[in-house]
Amino acid sequence: MNNQYFDLIDQSYYFPQDGFDLDGEELTFHGISLKYLIEKYGTPLKLTYLPKISMQIKRARNHFNRAIKSLGYGGKYHYCYCTKSNHFSYILDEVLNNDVHLETSSSFDIDIINNLYQRKKISKKKIIVNNGYKTEEYVEKIAQLIKIGFKNIIPVCDNIKELELYEKYIEGPCKIGIRVATEEEPKFEFYTSRLGIRKSEVLSFYQDKIANNDKFQLKMLHFFVDTGIKDSIYYWGELKKAVKTYCELKKICKDLKAINIGGGMPIRNSLGFEFDYKGMIKEIVSLIQQACEEEGIPDPDIFTEFGKYTVGESGATIFSVLGQKQQNDSELWYIVDNSLMNTIPDSWGIFERFILLPINKWKHEYTRVNIGGLTCDNSDYYNSEVHENQVMLPRFSNEDEEPLYIGFFHTGAYQDALSGFGGIKHCLIPGPKQVIVTRNSKGNIVDRLYREEQTAADMLKILGY
Ligand SMILES: Cc1ncc(COP(=O)(O)O)c(C=O)c1O
Repeated sequence: MNNQYFDLIDQSYYFPQDGFDLDGEELTFHGISLKYLIEKYGTPLKLTYLPKISMQIKRARNHFNRAIKSLGYGGKYHYCYCTKSNHFSYILDEVLNNDVHLETSSSFDIDIINNLYQRKKISKKKIIVNNGYKTEEYVEKIAQLIKIGFKNIIPVCDNIKELELYEKYIEGPCKIGIRVATEEEPKFEFYTSRLGIRKSEVLSFYQDKIANNDKFQLKMLHFFVDTGIKDSIYYWGELKKAVKTYCELKKICKDLKAINIGGGMPIRNSLGFEFDYKGMIKEIVSLIQQACEEEGIPDPDIFTEFGKYTVGESGATIFSVLGQKQQNDSELWYIVDNSLMNTIPDSWGIFERFILLPINKWKHEYTRVNIGGLTCDNSDYYNSEVHENQVMLPRFSNEDEEPLYIGFFHTGAYQDALSGFGGIKHCLIPGPKQVIVTRNSKGNIVDRLYREEQTAADMLKILGY
């Protein structure tokens, strides 16, 4: 048979590839036998492979440091982890093993910082960039961190009025940043991002409110292109504009030392994904260097706040296919044992695509399918892969002894935060169990259950029954 699922993958992509291989007819993920995990824990199951997080951080840091060295760039590189992409303590613990800095987005994030400090995971020297629209509560908590001796807290002004809150609560002295609003991609609904301060107001804001204010030193200019880092005219245009603003500011503000280019580093969302991380990073560093050289100012330190890039590729979400429904001659549905809307909300909310692969039955014939979730919502489906407009999976028979298992891979960022881990789910479909996999000092794989599947009692309690 040459229309086996295996042949389809073998002919369409380089396979095996980083993180994905077969053990006999079954898929492994970073050397983990997924079949073993399914037999041990059952499905649906969310899994996090922690070592991938450290690998990602080391890779980006290496590329930046090498680019800095080879270009003779004068500034330093700082890797910040943006906590909003995955807040779990086991994630933060892994991230912090790599001595990275942190970026917060809201008031409760500061409670996480306090907790990390109390558990001795961070010291008061840690650089903590506070982004997001500042509520009074958020600023009060930031001020408290500074008061107890955190030396490198950098609240970033998202709007001009925000400085009044800093004045009110922060005793000073305090380093601060300014976020400059980017122009949105031409196809987007708005011209200018609502996040940050308009470019035309940044210089006057600094001159009027910060330059002669003893309490605050402007250390960082921040910008973030929401559609991510990519080799497009739009991205390079926005980066150039931000660096130009940095240069203009630097000429009137000697304290300014750093440019923060935010997050947006892409991750593999298809087996065919290709991205030249090394080349892209070198280009970013080189662009900043050239612009600064032209303006005669020193190279700034470069900060990044990679969220999805740090944690996305560590996650996988695994389902059993409960049954199949042929709804007309061409539409075959595979119904999985949870909801796609609930477990990978990005897939229906913003049409994010993930790597989708079967765990078993690789030698079966393949067929085009739509994948349906258990909720009664019309939108609870997944039916297209990046680049391909369709999803192919192995055929199976209802008489098969073993069900077909499928996995969505690289689901480690944002999905739990958006879905609301442990809360009330659409159609009361419970949140899946969560399993953490890591390697011990001998390099052997070690797995543990982090949370059982939600129970009916949990949900009814939240609902007041
Ligand atoms: C200010 C800021 N920094 C960093 C990030 C992280 O982006 P990503 O997860 O794409 O790296 C975001 C995401 O919304 C953000 O708003």
